Amino acid sequence: MAEQCGPALRWDELPEGPVLVLLDQTRLPAEEVELVCTDVPALVTAIQSLAVRGAPLLGIAGAYGVALAAARGFDVANAADRLARARPTAVNLAYGVRRVEEAYRKAFACHGGDEDGAAAAAALAEAKALHREDADASERLSEHGSVLLEKLVPGGSLRLLTHCNTGVLVSGGRGTALGVVRAVHRAGRLRRLWVDETRPLLQGARLTAYEAAREGMPYSVLADNAAGALFAGGEVDAVLVGADRIAADGSVANKVGTYPLAVLARHHGVPFIVVAPVTTVDLTTETGAGIEVEQRPGQEVTEIPVGVRGGSVQAAGGGVLVAPVGAQAYNPAFDVTPPDLVTAIVTDGGVIAPVTAAAVAELCSASRKG
Ligand code: MRU
Repeated sequence: MAEQCGPALRWDELPEGPVLVLLDQTRLPAEEVELVCTDVPALVTAIQSLAVRGAPLLGIAGAYGVALAAARGFDVANAADRLARARPTAVNLAYGVRRVEEAYRKAFACHGGDEDGAAAAAALAEAKALHREDADASERLSEHGSVLLEKLVPGGSLRLLTHCNTGVLVSGGRGTALGVVRAVHRAGRLRRLWVDETRPLLQGARLTAYEAAREGMPYSVLADNAAGALFAGGEVDAVLVGADRIAADGSVANKVGTYPLAVLARHHGVPFIVVAPVTTVDLTTETGAGIEVEQRPGQEVTEIPVGVRGGSVQAAGGGVLVAPVGAQAYNPAFDVTPPDLVTAIVTDGGVIAPVTAAAVAELCSASRKG
């Protein structure tokens, strides 16, 4: 019996055994194709190719990955290590993996093994709990974010700029930044959503536009380098983005191209708002300099991953070459925005503004106690 929480991923019990079913995000928006993972190597490949992606969803996928290993009798410790290392920047991935591994270990110790499947059942229960918690967190993010926007930009309808994809495709619920946009839209306050295309893998043009269209939002896709002209024309009321990891000092790692938006927003006096669950805050990373930024294959830059070639975006290679054969490329998946450029961080536990190490620590301690 399948359990449906959001469109991006679900656990299913098939006659041949349990599986994790993913909506293959490399194929969107051309095709809605499911990818069925029966083992951890398949899931690791899906994570690395961005078939499943976005910080909160990576946490959920990693959590179910450990449960899958347990249910199918694979080496859980080895599976957990492979999953936790699949991508380095989004802290939610390792968080989800280690939390379920811990639940498995405790039950294993308690039952003196897993002959009766109790440890595997405990792992699955923990993964499902994490999935539900993320859905709940995203509800609270939407509420806190809409209230904050009303305070920062009172009255009237809003022109919001976003980068990458942060909606139902990255979450157990409504998402993070795009969840807030959706709440604004449903309240009748969205004048326009400006969608950065998000080169090189086009998460904005492919995925955010796909979600915005399905919601009936007024939206326009822009080339990333057109954002400056938009700000200069006074066309942006606020920037809303997600986060892959927030360091203890409030530095924010997010999809590459986020930092230049923060600089532009500061220059033009526009609020720059980060929306992320508390699980994205990593107090063990003191500053932005300590965040490991994933470097991806150069072909993602030297080739245009055009969807017209079979509707699929290849994570590395397989697109149309737009640089000379053999060209070198610089392709960090993320950049880091310093806290002084961030107007506010909206979390499920409340809003951090101004963004300081003390405010981050206080919110985390209150949220993690409660
Ligand atoms: O490389 P991706 O597509 O996984 O990057 C995703 C992002 O950068 C998102 O903005 C981030 O994970 C926040 S999602 C709520």
